[in-house]
Amino acid sequence: MTDNKSNELTKEVKRRRTFAIISHPDAGKTTITEQLLLFGGAIRQAGTVKAKKSGKFAKSDWMEIEKQRGISVTSSVMQFEYQNKRINILDTPGHEDFSEDTYRTLMAVDAAVMVVDSAKGIEEQTKKLFKVCRMRGIPIFTFMNKLDRDGREPLELIEELEEVLEIDAYPMNWPIGSGKTLLGLYDLYHNRIEAFRPEETNNGERFIPLNKEGEIEGEHRIKKESLYDQVLEEALLLKEAGNEFSTEAIAAGKLSPVFFGSALTNFGVQTFLETFLQFAPEPSAHETRANDIIKPTEPTFSGFVFKIQANMDPRHRDRIAFLRICSGKFERGMDVTLPRTGKKIRLSNSTQFMAESRETVTDAVAGDIIGLYDTGNFQIGDTLYAGKDEIEFQELPQFTPELFMKVEPKNVMKQKSFHKGINQLVQEGAIQLYRSYHTETYIIGAVGQLQFEVFQHRMRNEYNSEVVMTSIGSRIARWVNPDQLDENMGSSRNMLVRDRFDQPLFLFENKFAERWFSDKYPEVELTSLL
Ligand code: G4P
Repeated sequence: MTDNKSNELTKEVKRRRTFAIISHPDAGKTTITEQLLLFGGAIRQAGTVKAKKSGKFAKSDWMEIEKQRGISVTSSVMQFEYQNKRINILDTPGHEDFSEDTYRTLMAVDAAVMVVDSAKGIEEQTKKLFKVCRMRGIPIFTFMNKLDRDGREPLELIEELEEVLEIDAYPMNWPIGSGKTLLGLYDLYHNRIEAFRPEETNNGERFIPLNKEGEIEGEHRIKKESLYDQVLEEALLLKEAGNEFSTEAIAAGKLSPVFFGSALTNFGVQTFLETFLQFAPEPSAHETRANDIIKPTEPTFSGFVFKIQANMDPRHRDRIAFLRICSGKFERGMDVTLPRTGKKIRLSNSTQFMAESRETVTDAVAGDIIGLYDTGNFQIGDTLYAGKDEIEFQELPQFTPELFMKVEPKNVMKQKSFHKGINQLVQEGAIQLYRSYHTETYIIGAVGQLQFEVFQHRMRNEYNSEVVMTSIGSRIARWVNPDQLDENMGSSRNMLVRDRFDQPLFLFENKFAERWFSDKYPEVELTSLL
């Protein structure tokens, strides 16, 4: 690569910002995503993403796929330009679309934005997703949403965030009132007030500058409000008793900058975006299985597959593999190696996903996500690289499933296609497989209901195997050391099974059953995946 080309690559890589928005359903993820896309000019009208989400066919990505035939999962990756940054937002599907893919998506980002409903605080799904972000040590930014509604006290929200998630918080701004009394944001970071309805409170000007003491200079109608005095007091308290601002702690995912706002009324979102972009990291380096560090600006192309979207239309079996580029530049028609099989593959057909349209990739570099048409070559976790030196990135983690089903072929004469299908789907990472200890019953595990639906659908359409699934409901999966295991420890409340690597684990009916077990066998260590 010539110096010029290498400089060009470095410049391009360094302006990438790739992140996911995580939240509990209904906290406002879609609404804020839409606002961000509007700022970036990637969509022209609010409601575009929402329409996709709530449209008849968009119950989940794959149903949408079925509808559209082509694999156009346009909302999986959204790309736009803002302030000379190329931004990639990766969707983390929630609701009934929650699956292991949701977790895996977090393996492909460099930062996360956590949207919290300020009336509800930290909710279950946010906690789960947060855990994965923390495991990766990526920066986590918080947006406390729905300030236009009566919410909880901001101090209480910050306290809960710190306690429940065990992360330090640093409020970048502070609400002046909420709901009907909302006046604005006291922006500690920029030393200004952002007026909520500027036409009513500040002659149409969005920002009110503050002096060195953090007060409005001279006369102002906001100064007459008791909320103003209250916010000054709270700001002082934060200054004296709060955490110190530290860019290192933010970068290490130890300190979460917190922004308040209201996505629906587009209040505080732009300030959030602009401040976020100052601290959001450039594409990170990735470690290989040989413990080499691959820098994003290295000229040789490399990346890994973190998600595979199967087409649900039986007439079109193509799938799409989502690849995070870890180094170099993607070029159409380039030859790459798949180290798992040693195969060489030509990447001629790739698609990058945009908010509105599907466009063929022209300039994807490290940090970007590309979608590759796949006829069955790829598995989740696969590395692809160009050049001579082998690169194989570390394995993606597996996540502890929470929902379980017994599964068997409807037609016992069709064992062969059943086994072929199930093995392939397990390998691909679509579902996890367990067998009960004595009866060898097949049990599949997932983190979301959608995975079962996709499994059943694909078994039928791709492997011609009708399956019967019987729910055993939600279970707590805990692995045990085989040396500590006595097969008689299993019961209906803690079903003993083995995973596909023959490792034993218990599926506990509930927390109570797990506790009962630990009391009875205190010496047995129980572990979970992530
Ligand atoms: P999600 O993707 O996290 O599931 O949430 P989404 O953006 O769909 O928002 C969930 C609901 O919360 C929506 O209302 C949305 O309009 C509302 N919402 C989002 N941000 C704000 C905010 O800042 N303030 C207020 N007051 N509401 C907000 P909905 O009634 O469920 O949907 P819709 O009828 O508006 O489409």
